[in-house]
Amino acid sequence: MTSLSFQTTKSALCEPGASAKIGPLLRDMGAKNALIVSDPGVIGAGLTDAARASLDEAGIAFELFGEVVADPPEALVLDAVGLARARGADAVIGLGGGSSMDTAKLIAFLAISSQPLQQLYGIGQCRGNRLPLILVPTTAGTGSEVTPIAIVTTGASEKKGVVSPQLLPDLALLDADLTLGLPRHVTAATGVDAMVHAIEAYTSKIKKNPISDALARQALSLLAANLRTVCEEPENRAARSDMLLGSMLAGMAFTNAPVGAVHALAYPLGGHFHVPHGLSNSLVLTQVMRFNAPAAAELYSEIAPLIFPELAGLEGAARNEGLIAGLEGLIADVGLETQLRQVGVSHNHLPMLAEDAMKQTRLLVNNPREVTYEDALAIYERTL
Ligand SMILES: NC(=O)c1ccc[n+]([C@@H]2O[C@H](COP(=O)([O-])OP(=O)(O)OC[C@H]3O[C@@H](n4cnc5c(N)ncnc54)[C@H](O)[C@@H]3O)[C@@H](O)[C@H]2O)c1
Ligand SMILES: [Fe+2]
Repeated sequence: MTSLSFQTTKSALCEPGASAKIGPLLRDMGAKNALIVSDPGVIGAGLTDAARASLDEAGIAFELFGEVVADPPEALVLDAVGLARARGADAVIGLGGGSSMDTAKLIAFLAISSQPLQQLYGIGQCRGNRLPLILVPTTAGTGSEVTPIAIVTTGASEKKGVVSPQLLPDLALLDADLTLGLPRHVTAATGVDAMVHAIEAYTSKIKKNPISDALARQALSLLAANLRTVCEEPENRAARSDMLLGSMLAGMAFTNAPVGAVHALAYPLGGHFHVPHGLSNSLVLTQVMRFNAPAAAELYSEIAPLIFPELAGLEGAARNEGLIAGLEGLIADVGLETQLRQVGVSHNHLPMLAEDAMKQTRLLVNNPREVTYEDALAIYERTL
């Protein structure tokens, strides 16, 4: 008999234009004084406007913390917590990509907690409650709106995760209209990130389960069918909406069947070279899959036709080779860099990257095949 445990966000609203309903939704949660957490790019694109108008209309006061940067550093999170406390915020809205949503999650918890941020890293370290929290993604990528995870850059370059159920929001609000203007490169990188979440959840070694499998499969069908379209036709609402749904489903999957070596090898690229999260995953994806293939062949073979329906006619090694080659083609077609040297990495950096990747033990334990330092180095070398 299968035994499993499964967690997800208690409610989600997926509807183009829904960010204009945030005022009444927050009022129903009893909020009177909200903090909106976002970044300059998202605010500059006017994506917080509908939410702000809706808060005004609902009579909810709000403050905007608009200074989030990619891969948020600890100091930025603490500044925002200070603002939330000083203004007596009683609810938090994270509106933006994964960086804004992750920051919002930590603010909602830390604003009413006496635990220091340093105590929260790792799994299940948060004690007590958080403020009411709504997350509104503007990228179709991280799935952060339905994950109990916040990723922070500590010190100069290391990325650490806080993983605690308190970080799941009260509501994930998916408004595909907010993604219509997402630039092509961000669309492509975040879309591949979402696909990686689903692939790694499906092959996750310890906690893979029938619910996460179903979510990952549906996510891959949606994401693979629409990624090229949203890159070519950015204002295609139906395709944008499917991408947003796919990234949320992938987020639900990997919350319960965590990601592995692709993310472990990607994080040092973000930490040291400020490679955007999705791109860093995309860069190492296919070489990690080649490495994993001896242990994950059957699982890759199951998902291959969901990603590329034409592979249904192939079997065994040919099908898996078709999957990996197909993903290489997709990544190149959507215009993403495919080699580490294109993002400033040189041969001399590889030992440092491999050392840092090995520190991601939280992730590496989930990989279908054990990864040694030498393996990590070899994967980076093949990606250079
Ligand atoms: N919590 C999780 O479960 C989880 C999962 C994966 C990644 N992450 C983290 O999420 C972060 C990456 O998030 P991301 O990839 O969504 O990118 P991001 O939040 O860093 O945003 C990237 C850029 O895109 C811009 N942008 C976002 N939405 C836009 C829109 N609709 N129109 C125009 N510009 C827009 C932003 O202004 C920013 O410049 C990293 O810190 C990563 O570690 C978290
Ligand atoms: Fe990711």
